[in-house]
Amino acid sequence: MPYVTEENLTDLALERWSNIPDPRLRQVMTALIKHLHAFVREIEPTTPEWFMAIDWLTRVGKMSDEKRQEMILTSDVFGVSMLVDAINNRAPGGATPSTVEGPFHVQGSPQLADGADLAKGAPGILTFCTGTVRDLDGKPVGGAVLDLWQTDGDGLYEAQHGSEGYMRGIYRTNPDGTYTIRTVAPIGYTVPMDGPVGELMEKTRISHFRPAHIHFAISAPGYKPVTTHLFQRDDEYIETDVVFGVKEKLIVDFVKKPGGKTPTGETVSTPFYEIKYDFVLQKAATAQKAA
Ligand code: BEZ
Ligand code: FE
Repeated sequence: MPYVTEENLTDLALERWSNIPDPRLRQVMTALIKHLHAFVREIEPTTPEWFMAIDWLTRVGKMSDEKRQEMILTSDVFGVSMLVDAINNRAPGGATPSTVEGPFHVQGSPQLADGADLAKGAPGILTFCTGTVRDLDGKPVGGAVLDLWQTDGDGLYEAQHGSEGYMRGIYRTNPDGTYTIRTVAPIGYTVPMDGPVGELMEKTRISHFRPAHIHFAISAPGYKPVTTHLFQRDDEYIETDVVFGVKEKLIVDFVKKPGGKTPTGETVSTPFYEIKYDFVLQKAATAQKAA
């Protein structure tokens, strides 16, 4: 082996890290070395800068556990989570696009009847979301599961509010594919800013907010599940979502109604929002071919 120079170091490291029997691990590690070396050659960090970077990464790791995932937040704010999501969920034009799951999904939400109230007295503007789940041929998908989670009107998820089953629930579509959800409008919120990611964001002019959205994980036998959100059009953060989650097709109107008859048939005297959205699932077999 030739001894090390600044010029030959990348080639030497690449050669050494090619010595991996598993072809996928070899591909991953050689690409990592190539891009890491290119990054270092481009920015030419001083030694204190390099140790500052190592300290930052160390603090990201130390802050991460099963409750707080600063590592995932790093991937989110750098746009990497959405890139991985896009690569793994390429969908034909007509299908509902996916977006990041985020850290607030909880398994085993309460099962709710069609039209039932997800909010159960939580603060916020009364909101109804209705629509149909269909397949790519326009055929309604009855019995599809819609697993929802969202903030209340104060911007709090269950994890921040503290009560079990708060602002989450599981609905099923009717035999004709329709669904009706009664809830309150979510609002935009900031990602956690009390860790190393927040410390870095504070040094930038980047918004640390997400626009108001409702999370949906939709599944049905024979179809590819989709994890997505519906975003409120005209939210002040819609064009600057800190985790790059907004796709055009997922932006919906929260239509303000003055009161009166609601989609569940009840009559209310207060203003409410109405959201209409049809989800489109792709068949599991189509999804396999597209992948
Ligand atoms: C969320 O939408 O719940 C979320 C996604 C990524 C980072 C933080 C929150
Ligand atoms: Fe969210």
